[in-house]
Amino acid sequence: PETGCLSIIVLGASGDLAKKKTFPALFNLYRQGFLHSNEVHIFGYARTKISDDELRNRIRGYLINKDATSEHSEEVSKFLQLIKYVSGSYDAEDGFRLLDKEIAEHEFSKNSQEGSSRRLFYLALPPSVYPSVCRMIKLCCMNKSNLGGWTRIVVEKPFGKDLDSAEQLSAQIGELFDEPQIYRIDHYLGKELVQNLLVLRFANRMFLPLWNRDNIDNVQIVFREDFGTEGRGGYFDEYGIIRDIIQNHLLQVLCLVAMEKPVSLKPEHIRDEKVKVLQSVLPITDDEVVLGQYEGYTDDPTVPDLSNTPTFASMILRIHNERWEGVPFILKAGKALNSRKAEIRIQFKDVPGDIYRCQRQGRNEFVIRLQPLEAIYMKLTVKQPGLEMSTVQSELDLSYGQRYQGFTIPEAYERLILDTIRGDQQHFVRRDELKAAWEIFTPLLHRIDNGEMKPIPYKPGSRGPSEADELLSKSGYVQTHGY
Ligand code: BG6
Repeated sequence: PETGCLSIIVLGASGDLAKKKTFPALFNLYRQGFLHSNEVHIFGYARTKISDDELRNRIRGYLINKDATSEHSEEVSKFLQLIKYVSGSYDAEDGFRLLDKEIAEHEFSKNSQEGSSRRLFYLALPPSVYPSVCRMIKLCCMNKSNLGGWTRIVVEKPFGKDLDSAEQLSAQIGELFDEPQIYRIDHYLGKELVQNLLVLRFANRMFLPLWNRDNIDNVQIVFREDFGTEGRGGYFDEYGIIRDIIQNHLLQVLCLVAMEKPVSLKPEHIRDEKVKVLQSVLPITDDEVVLGQYEGYTDDPTVPDLSNTPTFASMILRIHNERWEGVPFILKAGKALNSRKAEIRIQFKDVPGDIYRCQRQGRNEFVIRLQPLEAIYMKLTVKQPGLEMSTVQSELDLSYGQRYQGFTIPEAYERLILDTIRGDQQHFVRRDELKAAWEIFTPLLHRIDNGEMKPIPYKPGSRGPSEADELLSKSGYVQTHGY
């Protein structure tokens, strides 16, 4: 591992993302010994004029709960001491010059003997300020050590609103930083079971011959949330569920399910294969899309009364290649539904010449539940125990809670920040991947934005519009029993 001083700069330090995700992830890395106090310093940067202690106090509540042990509270206090705050605007030099001075002082004190300087800028900010912030970093805050090191930028979606705006944003950032310096986070790529997908597919002989159009009938990738857009209506209404969840999180999962085996585990090899999948997706047709909006969504004062924004979408993607021709990939995401769940459901075709057809319970399925209660299970038809010869559908079940008791499943952000420090871009979205993802959805999004397609109202706490279930059965999915 690299040594030398590591400065982590969280821009937008007093915002929601920083408090809820970034700082807790940094704290967990610290607790587990991945951030050493003798080489790490954390800087918060934002416009608000507050002191170091005020920032620390704002963060503290997100790292500690009322049941925390005194040992935990002590760790939190030690961690908070690593954080300094600098205030300044996002488009003027003085704040960034001051920030640079603070970072350099810290580097000087830690590097008194030797060492390189590593600077990680985490933009917990709205994308509208990415270009100016990147310009300021480039102008004022780059690593200047002649002993080596690096400067890296972490950015998060939304990367634009459609193909053109995303390309423009990529070009603006791309003029300032090279691709190996840019880490585009899609936090689904940091989830334990998403990271397991390539292992499952390529390290298990039994799946290799099955994973194709000859055996698989349909694939569902589903995201459900049992709460609405409370508190985020303003942001959400501008983007909608397709930009918020499907174009990024679910599409990334689709890539990992559908891609060919990469030449190696090198990040570039993996991302090359993902891009090929995206480029093979056919245009989405309107009759294979169902949009919904939950009743009451527009009661939020930050949402326009006549909003056409979908809070639910279900659609079929078709991949035009040798492996997947004819296999529908159903992507479904919704807010304010009856449960919170994210899962991949791979349904196999019927058994040819099925001699048990009278008793058939359903098809084989391979299910990967990303959350909650991470699990991988297979639905099989087996003989019901007993004297009669009857069949029943049962599960081969790898529930993580039971099988991996005592293991902690890391938060997505923890892992992704660690990857950034280590310089591993495997779980980050490359520029051409982002472009290909927008190419798939932009025509559909424009039709929705122009009001040519309207969301169907659904009741909060329901399964979403019943038209989505009809689309699912039209795709060939056969409802099976069990879970
Ligand atoms: C975010 C979306 O990217 O993902 C949110 O903006 C959504 O709308 C969240 O709630 C879901 O993440 P997770 O990890 O809870 O599934």
